[in-house]
Formats: sequence, structure tokens, C-alpha cells
Amino acid sequence: MNFLSGKHILVGVCGGIAAYKSAELVRLLRGAGARVRVVMTASAGEFVGPRTFQALTGEAVWQGWSDDRSGMDHIELARWADRVLIAPATADVLARLAQGRADDLLAAICLATSAPLLVAPAMNQAMWGHPATQANAAVLCERGVRLCGPATGEQACGDIGAGRMLEPPLLLQAISDSFGRGLLAGLKVLVTAGPTREALDPVRFLSNRSSGKMGYAVAAAAREAGAEVTLISGPVSLDRPAGVALVRVESAQQMLEAVMQRAGACDIFVAAAAVADYQPAETASRKLKRQSAELTLKLKPAPDILATVAGLPAAPFCVGFAAETENLRHNAHKKRLGKGIAMLAANLVGPDLGFDVDENALLVVWEGGELHIEKDTKYRVALRLVEQIAGRYQASPHDKHTESHAEHSA
Ligand code: PMT
Repeated sequence: MNFLSGKHILVGVCGGIAAYKSAELVRLLRGAGARVRVVMTASAGEFVGPRTFQALTGEAVWQGWSDDRSGMDHIELARWADRVLIAPATADVLARLAQGRADDLLAAICLATSAPLLVAPAMNQAMWGHPATQANAAVLCERGVRLCGPATGEQACGDIGAGRMLEPPLLLQAISDSFGRGLLAGLKVLVTAGPTREALDPVRFLSNRSSGKMGYAVAAAAREAGAEVTLISGPVSLDRPAGVALVRVESAQQMLEAVMQRAGACDIFVAAAAVADYQPAETASRKLKRQSAELTLKLKPAPDILATVAGLPAAPFCVGFAAETENLRHNAHKKRLGKGIAMLAANLVGPDLGFDVDENALLVVWEGGELHIEKDTKYRVALRLVEQIAGRYQASPHDKHTESHAEHSA
């Protein structure tokens, strides 16, 4: 599977003899379909020119903060990146990252980004073996930075030992693996998406504006993270995401049944569907005839699928969505507790917001924490959400994934 297609990879190039290999790395990343931006440190320019990277990426190359005076390059690039890969990473940059310095653009990006960071050390073997460098590398590993290499062999200075930058094809593999390496490998994920239709009679129904795009994006992102994914979908006009098992349903009751057949066997349940809150108390078996008098519809609550799954004795790790028109943070926390679930992703909805559009932004909340995922395509937002779900899932006790219900229901 090509995990790199469409991904945003920020390559940091530092001043080392291996910098010439970064051009080949960038070429390989582009060939795999990734969008690449290059940030060079001041000394990198002594080894390789920015024009090389500009030609290979088709993008501007950053050699420091740009002159537009906004001073926001580090924030914009930090948000843009799905992954940051520093190759070659010198002893100096490892030390500065370990210290949390922000004294050049690349270091500031590394502090500002929530994207996973990979570093490919390249330096003289004695410098790599020095206790200071080893301590810095250990600090970075503890913080979740992925160390790629270094390789062992003959060095530019004639020494032999560990300190060579990993070859570009191996770095390409490492960065691809970081997407598909399976944050959710070996796990079963059940996702709901789309609207439900609650029949009034054989030809009419109550429904909502959900297009299914958000739920389908979550299913695709979970699949990409290595999970075995089943998507229970209300009526939408979207194609089945590659590698995902799709079950089509219409009503809330059908969605409940399809979910409950599978919920006991899944590890993670993500409820992105806009399930009806109410359904007609009765469904007419024949088409309702037009009358001159007013018609009053009697509605009854539809089954609450998410709360039902969360209430199972061995409930999966449950992630709900919340469609809110105001008070996003307050309602998100309240709804998470009310549904008795581990995590909830809240989005603002309204005209051109949330429902039936291509972009979304989420406030993700869990016990003691929250994360704002900036507005982006639903797929990229889903990638971020899945990363967060994987992290919280791993951190949670696997025998109990639900919170005790609060007194108040959301
Ligand atoms: O499909 P799109 O056009 O891409 O739009 C995406 C979306 C806006 C529909 C999506 O991001 C979203 O917010 N989905 C949840 C919508 C919703 O029903 O929110 P809610 O606040 O009413 O429900 C809270 C949670 O309970 C949701 O996880 C929902 O799936 C679940 N629920 C609700 C009612 C019900 N009867 N059963 C449920 O399981």
C-alpha cells in the first residue's frame, strides 16, 4: 500500500556532507506521491543549493524566516506537515532539539508541530558515540521522536563506524511505515457514517444533511493505520474506501442492529454517523394522503447506538462525534460524559459547516485533555483524529474503555 500519496512531508536539511543525499530522498518522496517542502539550516547551503530542492519539490525552499514580516513561517509549516523528517540530522541539531531550542526556523517548526518527527543522524562516528550525543538521542526517543539510523560503515572522513545517514530508500521506507506502520495494526475498528432515514410511509422519510464524508474519511484513515475496518453506512453516494468492509443500512434501528452484531468483537468504535434522534412513532404501510387539515407527526426517540455500545459489559474504546451549533467545548465535555465514552470529537455545524462539506475542524476531548484539529480536508482531519485515538487507546486500560455515566445526559 502506498501510504505517502498526498501526504505533506517537511524535510529538514542540516549542514553535513550527507546533505547531497537529501536530494535523492526528496525525489523518492515526490515519486511516491507526497508533497514535499524543504527547510534548510544556515549551514546546509554550504553543502547543497536550495535550487536543487526547489526544482525537485516544485515548492519554495525555506532557508530561514521569510521576509514577509508575519514571522509565522514556523507555525504555518508546522501545521502543514503530516511528518517532519530531518535528514541529515547533525549532532548540533540533535542537541538543539533535545533542549527545545527555537533559534532557527527548523528547530521552531519541531517545537510547534504536532506531526510525528523523524530524524536521520549523520555525523562522525566519534561524535555519534559521544555520551552527550547519545544522551540527546535518548531524550528525543523518550519524547517519541523516531530515530532512523545511523548506519555503520566507511565515513567521509575515512573513519569506520556508526554515523552514516541511512540511504534514501530506507528513509523513504521509514517515513512510509510511520503512516502505515500500524498505529492501529491488529485492531478491529467499527465506524458509523452518514445519515439515517426514518420512514414515515413507503415513500417518505425523516433524515438530515450528513453526506458520510467525515465517517468515510475516518474509516479510510483507520485502515491506513493498519486496522481491520468495518464501516456501517447510512444512505450516501460515496465509494467504499479501499480495504474497508462496508455494510449499508437505512434506519437507526438497522444501524443499531448492524453495529451490535459486530461491537462485541471490535476494539474501537467510532460513531461519526448523524443518527436520527427521533423516529416516527408509527410508519404508515401506505402512502399518507394529502389532506386539507394540519397533520401532526408523533415521534419517539430513536435508539441511541453509541450509548448502547458504551453500555456493553466489555465495551470497545468508544469515540463519539458531536454536532454542535454553539458552546462547542462545554457541550463536547458534557456529551462525552453523558454518553459514557472515552473520547469525543466535536464539530460546529451549520450552513456550510460540518455537514456535507469537504473540510472540517474538530475539538477532540477526553478525560483530562483536549486537542484542537485545525480546519482541513476531512481526510487529513481524520488522519489526525486516528493518531489521537491510537494514542489514547494505547494509554487506556483495555478491559474498561467507558467512563461512568454522569448524572446529566447530554
Ligand atoms: O457526514 P458529513 O456530511 O461528512 O458530516 C459530518 C458530521 C457533521 C455528520 C459528523 O462530523 C458528525 O458530527 N457526526 C455526528 C452527528 C451527530 O449525530 O451528532 P449528535 O451530537 O447528535 O450525536 C452524538 C453522538 O451520538 C454521535 O457520535 C452520534 O453518532 C451518536 N448517536 C446519536 C444519536 C443516536 N440516535 N445514536 C447515536 O449513536
